[in-house]
Amino acid sequence: MDFKHYLQVLKEHTPYDFSDYSDNSIKRRLQKVISDNSLSLDELIQKTQNDQVFVERLVEEITVNTTELFRDPELWPAIYEKLINIIKTKKTFNIWHAGCSSGMEVYSSLIILSELGLADRARIYATDISKRMVNQCKKGVYRYDFNGGQLKAFEKVLKKNPIGGIKSIDFSKYLDVDVDNDKYIVKDYLRDMVITRQHDLVQDDVPFYNKFDVIFCRNVLIYFNASLQSKIYQMFHKQLYPGGALVLGNHESMTGFFKTKFKKNGAVYQKTNAFHFKYQ
Ligand SMILES: C[S@@+](CC[C@H](N)C(=O)[O-])C[C@H]1O[C@@H](n2cnc3c(N)ncnc32)[C@H](O)[C@@H]1O
Repeated sequence: MDFKHYLQVLKEHTPYDFSDYSDNSIKRRLQKVISDNSLSLDELIQKTQNDQVFVERLVEEITVNTTELFRDPELWPAIYEKLINIIKTKKTFNIWHAGCSSGMEVYSSLIILSELGLADRARIYATDISKRMVNQCKKGVYRYDFNGGQLKAFEKVLKKNPIGGIKSIDFSKYLDVDVDNDKYIVKDYLRDMVITRQHDLVQDDVPFYNKFDVIFCRNVLIYFNASLQSKIYQMFHKQLYPGGALVLGNHESMTGFFKTKFKKNGAVYQKTNAFHFKYQ
């Protein structure tokens, strides 16, 4: 299949441009769409040009939206050990979750901020390319069955490696549990703290006027090729306050020119201050 040609068609006929996503992952996913829907390439092109609902479903297939509450539990205390120095002295601070998926990362972070007594100073922004994911983030309803183990794992990790004196967390302050219907429901007061927008990191302007103290972009750029990653690092660099931090995923590390403009500490990349770059 000439998937480059197909991505060009997609770019021309829809709002989506995946031409700089990494070849292997996009190829695999497109092949899956073709086989699941028993389509030829010509039929796929036809549907892409004429069927908006199909395109939205295809985008969901192409952009992996796997996420968990306290994904990589052992990493969260390590992340916040580093972030706390950046945010603790601020009267208010801004955090952007770029590629937030259904919002589990957003609420994981908010729960930690609450436990650290910092949540009331936080302004939280969450964006994703998928409208469905953004809506799920707004709703804050997740499967109990799937996430139950994560909460226990997270509590265990915190007990071993406490940040800011956290010994254990009473999750009922943050989540209502409806075991019969297999649901966690994030409490309204937490959901109300999150400003959500549908936003494409590749093509859209940043949808917020303010700059950020922390940007989480975990397990998103891994699907982009090196030149697109570089472009996004440049945009994040511009959107961060001096000394602000970008948090990447467990299996990601920054490469290319912008690597020299951040100080790496585990998954946390702190913007170094003395840098004047002319943005076009
Ligand atoms: C694997 S999930 C990661 C979710 C969360 N950050 C985490 O680590 O648990 C990747 C998310 O990136 C989003 N995404 C992919 N391409 C994007 C783009 N161009 N702009 C914004 N979000 C994008 C997907 O829709 C998906 O929800």
